[in-house]
Amino acid sequence: PIMEQIEAAGYEAYFVGGSVRDVLLNKPIHDIDIATSAFPEEVKTLFPHTVDIGIEHGTVLVLSEGNEYEITTFRTESDYQDYRRPDEVVFVRSLEEDLKRRDFTINALAMNTKGDIIDLFDGEADLKAGIIRAVGLAHERFNEDALRMMRAVRFASQLDFSIEEQTFEAIKELSPLLQHISVERIHIEWIKLLLGKNRNKGIEAFVLTELYQYCPGLNEQAGMLKSLIELAPYEIESEEDSWVILCHKLSLKGQELTSFLKKWKLSNKIIDNCKKVVPSVSFRLEHEWDTAHLYPLNEEQVLMTERVLKILNVSYDVSLAKKKYNELPIHGLKDLAVTGSDLIAHLNQQPGPWLGRLLKTLEQAV
Ligand code: CTP
Repeated sequence: PIMEQIEAAGYEAYFVGGSVRDVLLNKPIHDIDIATSAFPEEVKTLFPHTVDIGIEHGTVLVLSEGNEYEITTFRTESDYQDYRRPDEVVFVRSLEEDLKRRDFTINALAMNTKGDIIDLFDGEADLKAGIIRAVGLAHERFNEDALRMMRAVRFASQLDFSIEEQTFEAIKELSPLLQHISVERIHIEWIKLLLGKNRNKGIEAFVLTELYQYCPGLNEQAGMLKSLIELAPYEIESEEDSWVILCHKLSLKGQELTSFLKKWKLSNKIIDNCKKVVPSVSFRLEHEWDTAHLYPLNEEQVLMTERVLKILNVSYDVSLAKKKYNELPIHGLKDLAVTGSDLIAHLNQQPGPWLGRLLKTLEQAV
C-alpha cells in the first residue's frame, strides 16, 4: 500500500537491493528497501507519520498501520572520497541512475508493485548462474567503496556463488584499498563470511585476492586461513565460536590473544569468552578424556568448547566426557578415610612428623 500511495502521487517506487535478490533465490528476507523518485521532502508530505532516519542519505522511515518502511530516494554517484561511501549524496529521478551505482548485478534488481522485475544489468542471469559480477566497471565500483570487495567474498560464502573473472581481478589489484575502511565495517563482512554456509568458497577468494593482507592480525596468515578449509563441514553457529576458532588456529594465548581481538575492536564479553574457551579447547586436544579444563567455564562456554571441537574435527561429547571422568578409579579414593593409625600399621613405623606430612600429601593427591 505504501508503494501504491507513492505511485498515486505521480512518483515511481520499487523494491530494491538484497530483498529482491533474496525473493528470487527463495531465501528469507531480512529487510525491505524501497526506492523512489520522490525526494525526501516529497515523501514526507505523502505520509502523516514519518521519521528522518537518514535524510541526508535520502532515507525516510514511514510508519503505517504498525509497520515501518524505509524509503530511499534514487541516488547517483557523487564525489567519493577516501574509497568510502560518500557523506553527501545526489538525488535523482531516474531508477537507472540509482541501479547503476550499486555494487553487483545480483543486487541491482528492482521489483515494481505488480511483481515485475526490472533487470538492467542481467542480474537475473547471474543469479541463476551463481555469479557475483560488478555492475559496469569493477574498478569504478571498488574505488567508490572499497568495502564492496569484502562484500563480494562474503556473498560467495553466503550464496555459494563464484566471483566473475574481471571482478575478481579488480579485487586482487585493488585489495590494498581495504586499508581505508574502518575495522567495524570489515568486521561485519568477515563474520558474515565465516558464518556463511559455503565459507570455504569465501575463504578461498579472501586468500587468493589477498584481501586478508589488509585485515587486522590476518596479514601473512595465508597458511592459517587455508587450514580453515580443512575444518569439519559444519556451519559455525555464532560469532563467538568463530573468534575462538581463529584464536586457536593462530595459537594465540594471553596478551597476544587479547591484542588480536582488540585490533578487531571486539567487546569484553567476546574477549573474556576466548580467554577461557581457547585454552579449554587446546587442553582437550592434548588430554583425551580429562575434563578438568571444563571446571572454570560456565555452561555456555562448555557448550562452546564442544561446538568448536566438533568443527575442529575432534569428537567430543561433554556428557560422555563427564561419565568417563566419574568412572576414573581416583574417585574411589575420595571415600577412603585413611587415618594416621592405618598408615602406622600399614607402614610399620613409629609416629613422627612424617605422619602429618604424608596425610596432607595423600589428601591433596585425592
Ligand atoms: N549497496 C552497494 N554498495 C555497498 C552496500 C550496499 O551498492 N557497499 C547496495 C546494494 O544494491 C545492496 C543494497 O545497497 O543490495 C542494500 O545493502 P545492504 O542492506 O547493506 O546489503 P544487502 O545486499 O541487502 O545484503 P544483506 O542481505 O546482507 O543485508
